[in-house]
Amino acid sequence: METTEKTIDALLEENRVFEPSDEFASQANATPEIYDEAEDFEGFWARMAEELHWYRMWDKVVEYDPPAVIRWFIGGRLNASYNCVDRHVAGPKRNKAAIIWEGELGEERVLTYWDLYREVGKFANVLKGLGVKKGDRVAIYMPMIPELPIALLACARIGAPHSVVFGGFSAEALRERINDAEAKVIITADGGYRRGGVVQLKKAVDEALQMTPTVTDVVVVKRVGDDVEGMVCHMQEGRDHWWHELGVDAKTKCEPEEMDAEDMLYILYTSGSTGKPKGIVHTTGGYLVGTYTTFKYIFDNKDDDVFWCTADIGWVTGHSYVVYGPLANGATVVMYEGSPDFPDRGRWWGTIEKYGVTVLYTAPTAIRSFMKWGTEWPAKYDLSSLRLLGSVGEPINPEAWMWYHKYIGNENCPVADTWWQTETGMILITPLPGAVATKPGSATRPFPTVDADVFDENGDSVPVGAGGNLVVKKAWPSMTRTLYKDPERFKAVYWSKYPGVYLAGDGAKRDEDGYFWLLGRIDDVINISGHRMSTMEVESALVDHQAVAESAVIGIPHEIKGEAIAAFVILKDGFDGTMQMEKELKSHVRQKIGAIAQPEMIIFIAELPKTRSGKIMRRLLRDVAAGRALGDTTTLADPNVVAELKKKYENEE
Ligand code: PRX
Repeated sequence: METTEKTIDALLEENRVFEPSDEFASQANATPEIYDEAEDFEGFWARMAEELHWYRMWDKVVEYDPPAVIRWFIGGRLNASYNCVDRHVAGPKRNKAAIIWEGELGEERVLTYWDLYREVGKFANVLKGLGVKKGDRVAIYMPMIPELPIALLACARIGAPHSVVFGGFSAEALRERINDAEAKVIITADGGYRRGGVVQLKKAVDEALQMTPTVTDVVVVKRVGDDVEGMVCHMQEGRDHWWHELGVDAKTKCEPEEMDAEDMLYILYTSGSTGKPKGIVHTTGGYLVGTYTTFKYIFDNKDDDVFWCTADIGWVTGHSYVVYGPLANGATVVMYEGSPDFPDRGRWWGTIEKYGVTVLYTAPTAIRSFMKWGTEWPAKYDLSSLRLLGSVGEPINPEAWMWYHKYIGNENCPVADTWWQTETGMILITPLPGAVATKPGSATRPFPTVDADVFDENGDSVPVGAGGNLVVKKAWPSMTRTLYKDPERFKAVYWSKYPGVYLAGDGAKRDEDGYFWLLGRIDDVINISGHRMSTMEVESALVDHQAVAESAVIGIPHEIKGEAIAAFVILKDGFDGTMQMEKELKSHVRQKIGAIAQPEMIIFIAELPKTRSGKIMRRLLRDVAAGRALGDTTTLADPNVVAELKKKYENEE
């Protein structure tokens, strides 16, 4: 944690405070009293849950003895799709826009709640027609098109847990996730648009499906068609079906399955410290109540808001704040298919102007790119519809916070830096706009009822200003219940360090106002552009290449991505560390995992510096990588170089 220690010292010198304006506070959904209300822990969540539709009310709010017993709204029965769609169709929101979609090429589609009701019902019937039953897993590998949230909600409607795999993952990564979840059906598209080009998703699915024994059917949305050069979409007779053809005869009405509050809603894979991704399991009642409540208060949802969360639905941010949280609230969400710089770097700001977006939720990595591209891009557009800004995915540096506040928010939008994880399902540490003063770089306070703390190695709460491990001591409704098919790993990763206390895997500090400052991961997880990647996963991908004998992967600071990957590689005899080899290895990792995992730099090395007990000296590697980034081209393939460096470090220690 030595580099982050420096960061936090700098952060703690950050003394700008932004009080909520009277104008915002007077209309905000959250008032400071909400923290007092939260003292009645069970009452608070029961009141929130009562705002949703239940077929049967719960007998008990919560039972908590983790990791074995984590249960919310025990005995309650509900359906997530009913709550996100039918509930609104039955009232004045029936013809309100639910999803405003914009394709990268500029196409527009608006789905009202009534449209969504019809589409979800139809597709739910299609899934049933393919033999999907309650409890069957459905894998989804799609671009950001309206059929994606429709697919999620259709799964939820019939009680089939979905497992969404981000469209940027490779065929192999997809196969691993399909097989772990033992998915029966895959939903995909022929392709999707990204930066003017086509990402061929069906092609990757075909490759993945070469060894997936549980898959019986594939549903394919025709997003691109055959007019695009190089487009290949082979449909296998009997297995593959076009979405639009299956839907022709499907009925609109599909009775939602009455789910137990603790029935699984979905699995979402995320990286941990080992090479194998973790299947995070979320259940129905607690997850929906958690995302519903946090959306309502943190994004201050009002009926005329236009909410845009820029995350892909392939990540948890998209699950919770493009789909379930906003739709459970009957909000209008904007969904955009493509990249922020297509056809030019003003695309996002043009989109905000065009749809009158009022609340924007994005990631620091995007903000840093915009900073680099210059203020002239946002300045070209009218962003005055914006009234609230959010940030998620990684620590936001105070400069990026200030830039966001000034150039996007015109200094009159509160900025909510929201800390949470795939595992937490909902935002846990965040300002409540209108009720909490913000400080650039701090996620501020735990959400009402959330009992977060910072522990030292012995499990004692650290004093103000000291760093430690971020933990959560009490339950929250949308927490993951287990890792799919791996309760032992669930216990080992999150519950073994401090029994009964959730270990988040992040470092944190608190200041004299009790504000939390996040310091980054404490495990072997790298956060690239707000996305989690395990060093082990990348190391295994490298070692899989015929030329590689051994490798060690570390995170290095990166101006835009926050962190990037540097890979140290020992080649087998007979292979040379040429530029060509570097290129080949980068492309190998891309192919094995996906573009996000591609190393920024590869450093060929003759031996890895290890301690006497055999642990790789990652601190030394970080310094070596930093040196190389500065332009030092020392040829590390000379064994003496590392030996010398190692000696120097050992003497220092
Ligand atoms: O390290 C923290 C970082 O992202 C991790 C969770 O990643 P993931 O499960 O992919 O979910 C990302 C979106 C919720 C955390 O362990 N992280 C997320 N938000 C913040 C953050 N770090 C600092 N500040 C944040 N606001």
